[in-house]
Amino acid sequence: MAIIIKDNVFTLQTKNSTYQMKADSKGVLLHTYYGKKTDETDYSYLISMQDRGFSGNIYEAREDRTYSLDFLPQEFPVRGSGDYRISCMHADLGTGVRDCLLFFDSYQTYHGKYGLEGLPAMFASEDEPVDTLEITLKDSQEEFYLHLYYGVFEEHDIITRAAVVENRTDQEIRLSKVLSACLDMDHDGLDFIHFYGRHTRERKMERVPLFHGVTELRSTRGTSSHQHNPFVILADKTTSEEMGECYGFSLLYSGGFHLHAEVDQFHQTRLVVGIDDSVFTWSLQPGERFVAPEVAMAYSNGGLSQLSHCYHNGFQKNLIRSRWKDKRRPILVNNWEATYFDFNAENLLKIAEEAKELELDMLVLDDGWFGKRNDDFSGLGDWYVNEEKLGCTLKELVDKVNGMGLQFGLWFEPEMVSEDSDLYRNHPDWAMVVPDRRPIRSRSQLVLDMSREDVRDYIKERLFAILDSANIQYVKWDMNRSVAAAYSVLLPRERQGELRHRYVLGLYEVMEAMLERYPDLLLEGCSGGGGRFDAGMLYYCPQIWCSDDTDAHERTVIQYGTSFFYPVSTVGSHVSAVPNHQTGRVTSIRTRGTVAMAGSFGYELDLNKLDEEEKKEVSEQVKSYKKYQNLIYNGLYYRLCDPGESGMSFWEFVSEDSLEVLVQGVVYRAQPNALRRRLRLAGLSEEAKYRVTGEESIYSGKTLMAGGILLPEIKGDDMAVQIHLKRLSTL
Ligand code: GLA
Repeated sequence: MAIIIKDNVFTLQTKNSTYQMKADSKGVLLHTYYGKKTDETDYSYLISMQDRGFSGNIYEAREDRTYSLDFLPQEFPVRGSGDYRISCMHADLGTGVRDCLLFFDSYQTYHGKYGLEGLPAMFASEDEPVDTLEITLKDSQEEFYLHLYYGVFEEHDIITRAAVVENRTDQEIRLSKVLSACLDMDHDGLDFIHFYGRHTRERKMERVPLFHGVTELRSTRGTSSHQHNPFVILADKTTSEEMGECYGFSLLYSGGFHLHAEVDQFHQTRLVVGIDDSVFTWSLQPGERFVAPEVAMAYSNGGLSQLSHCYHNGFQKNLIRSRWKDKRRPILVNNWEATYFDFNAENLLKIAEEAKELELDMLVLDDGWFGKRNDDFSGLGDWYVNEEKLGCTLKELVDKVNGMGLQFGLWFEPEMVSEDSDLYRNHPDWAMVVPDRRPIRSRSQLVLDMSREDVRDYIKERLFAILDSANIQYVKWDMNRSVAAAYSVLLPRERQGELRHRYVLGLYEVMEAMLERYPDLLLEGCSGGGGRFDAGMLYYCPQIWCSDDTDAHERTVIQYGTSFFYPVSTVGSHVSAVPNHQTGRVTSIRTRGTVAMAGSFGYELDLNKLDEEEKKEVSEQVKSYKKYQNLIYNGLYYRLCDPGESGMSFWEFVSEDSLEVLVQGVVYRAQPNALRRRLRLAGLSEEAKYRVTGEESIYSGKTLMAGGILLPEIKGDDMAVQIHLKRLSTL
């Protein structure tokens, strides 16, 4: 077992890391070590106890003025303990004061991975080296408990954390903050790597030094958001892709979140993460439990690439449940950028015919097939097929598409309602609008109250009716606005603060029910592109539409940021028309294809509008993707350069046995009379020989990683390069 317990010292061992905590003589659960793999020594000897001015002492310390939670490293700091740093919990136990104080109560361990009721969580099968530790803390005076869960994924160097609060008193307990995890580190000088953005510009990597004070990331949008992603990295200043220490934190949650890093007066660093607490309240009744979402932490002393590999492998094997996760995904053509709302069965079938000709696998019908929906002002919620617009029933259309040998997929936006819809006219109270106040609209739509059972039942009934009516093998689940001024008619005034979390629980419940009923369905997540691209969603959707920006140049940056945590197979990525609809940029069909191949591949244009040369290229791309898909999905992924610094973006896939290597990328600007650019490869076997496909030259892995390869001469902006190598034998 990877969990060693001695004298209340808990040491968790993974392949390359050690995590340790200790219930000390007062019963406080201290955090004593996280980093490079080491032994089970009690690392609390490194804590320097001293009487420090203005640092309070808990009562249990008696006359020992050197004992203060103001500086001690802790597993789950709470408000009210004399620790003035950011905390994980505010709990009103009945006095109106939001303070408590938790002490060690008990623990248990078992083989396997804990699960979380109603929330996504990493999982493991019986035969995997994964163990669970559960530590229970109890308030110093009340029957108020906190269960801390640790899932130790030895092979992936991942430790998951979760927190469950339990009220065993006979009174209501009011929570106004329950985060999922804290990590205290005994030093400062760390870089904070995070991924910010906006609609059509998600997950732009930024690396900044932490300073004395608080660095805060938050989504108050009810979704994980385009603006900030719920994953960050803490890294040493010198950490690069290839070397150095770094720690990753990924929250498995699709609602608003909150992530704070604080460097304190003693130059220690604290990171806390969990549900957005800006409007959060929760009334915990006697006997009830509140479950905070899971965090997946990983440690690497082999740089950022190694950290990404921990998450790629961990999420691919132990988070994504879909039956599709190891299968070749269908190469699809989606009609959105081809037709927008202006389509009927006839022109859809024309696209399908061409798709078949080019050996694609699936036609996806996007927005506009239901209710009265010829623009984005009406119809959401009315999930009834608009047969008049289609010119036939959905089944007739799907049968024809299937008859051509193509599969069929369909778009939904289940959480939304248009004011101009029958659903809204019949159930205005189903929208989350504050009574007697004017709603905040966005894309002219309102958000349904997913905390309500009747709303969820309606959505299920409609989704299932449509999915039962025809052979639909793929669903794109969209969500096209942020939550604002939310109110639920069914919740009393003092419980409105629960709504946003109840919304997320409701969303997960519907997705779960859908996947239970259609286990073979391929579900693609989407929120105006990547507005809900988070690890929580991956539990339900093996792929997520990465961004509404389909411009290949821009996509290299978006996909670069996304790659730090999320496996390539999860990145929905399509070739679209030029001039690009978002940026007006013209890139070649080859460049668009090369960039889109670093993901779950497809097309999003009217294939009939391509000229013969372009069709030939598409045909090649389809063949090439089918050939390399296993390598792309299951190979180790390396970022070869930072697109922000190098004027180009290159990435590489190395097969697990390192026999095959695929390098892809884009050089942004052509320059006259320039030296040819060099590119150092990564992750090869040093002593082995590699041949570049189509060339005679043979190089050793060492040479390719130290000297690199020479890129071809570049003519034209945004030119794609693809290089395939095969390993020959050892030298
Ligand atoms: C969102 C999605 C797009 C498309 C439109 C349809 O913006 O991200 O891909 O489905 O909605 O309205």
